[in-house]
Amino acid sequence: MCGIVGYVGKRDALSVLMKGLEHLEYRGYDSAGVACIDEKAGGLFVLKEEGKLSRLKESLKKHSVVSTVGIGHTRWATHGEPSRVNAHPHTDCKGQIALVHNGIIENYALLKEELKRRGVAFRSKTDTEIAVNLIGDYYRRKRDLVEAFRKAVGRLRGFFAFVILAGNDPDKLLVFKRSNPIVIGLGKGENFVASDVSALLPYTKNVIYLEDDEYALLTRKDVRIYNLGTGKAVKRKPAVIRWNIRQAQKGGYPHFMLKEIHEEPRILEEIITKRIDRRGNVYFDTLGRGADLRLKKIKRVFFVSCGTAYHAGLVGSYLAEQFARLPAGAEVSSEFRYRDPVLHSSDAVILITQSGETADTLAALREAKAKGAFTLAIVNVVGSTIAREANAVIYTHAGPEIGVASTKAYTAQLVTEALFTFYLAGLHQTMKRTQVSELLLALKKVPAACEKILKQSEALDRCSRKYFRHQNFLYLGRGYNFPTALEGALKLKEISYAHAHGYAAGEMKHGPIALVDHKQPVICIAPASKTYEKMISNVEEIKARGGIVIALGTEGDRRLAELADDFFPLPPTHEVFSPILAAIPLQLFAYKIAAFNGRDVDQPRNLAKSVTVE
Ligand code: F6R
Repeated sequence: MCGIVGYVGKRDALSVLMKGLEHLEYRGYDSAGVACIDEKAGGLFVLKEEGKLSRLKESLKKHSVVSTVGIGHTRWATHGEPSRVNAHPHTDCKGQIALVHNGIIENYALLKEELKRRGVAFRSKTDTEIAVNLIGDYYRRKRDLVEAFRKAVGRLRGFFAFVILAGNDPDKLLVFKRSNPIVIGLGKGENFVASDVSALLPYTKNVIYLEDDEYALLTRKDVRIYNLGTGKAVKRKPAVIRWNIRQAQKGGYPHFMLKEIHEEPRILEEIITKRIDRRGNVYFDTLGRGADLRLKKIKRVFFVSCGTAYHAGLVGSYLAEQFARLPAGAEVSSEFRYRDPVLHSSDAVILITQSGETADTLAALREAKAKGAFTLAIVNVVGSTIAREANAVIYTHAGPEIGVASTKAYTAQLVTEALFTFYLAGLHQTMKRTQVSELLLALKKVPAACEKILKQSEALDRCSRKYFRHQNFLYLGRGYNFPTALEGALKLKEISYAHAHGYAAGEMKHGPIALVDHKQPVICIAPASKTYEKMISNVEEIKARGGIVIALGTEGDRRLAELADDFFPLPPTHEVFSPILAAIPLQLFAYKIAAFNGRDVDQPRNLAKSVTVE
């Protein structure tokens, strides 16, 4: 949450910062701001606006600033409401230092009192202003920016990333990271820093990821990294980013979300091709002998994740139990991390995450590692903190996901989990080769089936038009499609703001049936499966009470089509892959309902893409 960007070089700093912020705006859009060294006037130039980046862009037109060093920020508010005064960059009380921040400073209240006693007056309600003033206070005493930065940061508790810039030490940026992501981009005669690589893609593919409790000093010519505690220099080999700038653009679609839904067939095809070798074996380039040895010994599997990734985790737990015959469960990270779970070295904790930076999932990973479990991360963002810290990593290779609502990352997680399950089942010898081959054959047909679903999107258009004014929706599914019901409901509520609730259909008579009336659409996910007849009974029960049913079922299912008010066909597939197919029409349904209601699909209110605070 919150996007940070910094630049020191020869280019026009404000253009670099604004372009970087455009790529980071999905991390928060409550306010935006920039600070840079004004070469004409001398000292710091700071400009910030409440609301989206477009407002800052408008305001910038009124200023002509020449600068080659600066920092920028797009905010998701934690401490203090969204407003100009609470927007970043914050400056110290003397206006000498500017700071952008992502995260939370937990001991800010104590430090604020101390600084007040030292005569500092505060303007905002943010924890950030405490940090910048603490640095400023040390700076006035030490006259050495790096030393002041080190001293002040050493006193801050919590999880955060910073970049600072000083008016009278103008050719450097200082950067710090603890838990919240920071990546440094390396150029020639210029260097960059950002919360994630998407902001760096237009300029460089060579990057260095800062580790926790490290700080970096960036100048035009150099990047130096140090450990905060010891003060010792750290040597780190740069990594090369494989994403390209085209992937991070809308490519003619009105929204990133729609573009990303349309990318799904190609991405799934690429994952399947990459993960199955010529002899028909599943393999993962990032799992070595060490990981295999641990995986062979595991006796239980926990899938731990948040939001959409949690729904993928549920599907993963069903797969692991069915095919690898291991006791498996799925949990949300925020519960897992705090409930003191009993874990052994024979347990595997599988962290599912698009961003690889979600605060609760990261904490769950650390908890699991500390307790000796084997940790495996299924991650989209290469080089992210969770990918780096887990014992082993499998990348989902869905490319950058910019739309705040997760779509392609979800189906990529589902396909990756299925492949991983077959791999795990191979290690545990719980599946016959013929069974694996049959399933892989069925999986290979999934991308084409997804393509077919996208081609039939007019039917969804009609359906969404019919229901877009409704304010309450119920989603029901069983077995592998219970998580689909949860995910369908989450997608709809987060981007359309309609109330939507996902339920296990078997629970319907235990409560939610009371909601059934002639006003509330019930989305029933009922493809061919071993619980199909049970789903049909649910549909009958809803219809018997005058309810509205929108059904997702297997192509040619006349019985369901006749029972339902609206029917959307899914190409036939193996039951275990049906959540992949069913996800796509539900994503499109949510997208269309939100778009018909004029919602800001890519940047829904109050949300941010990467939840890096608890
Ligand atoms: C919903 C959505 C969120 C994320 C959740 C976890 O569309 O995107 O629910 O799935 O915040 O994020 P990651 O996968 O980055 O850990």
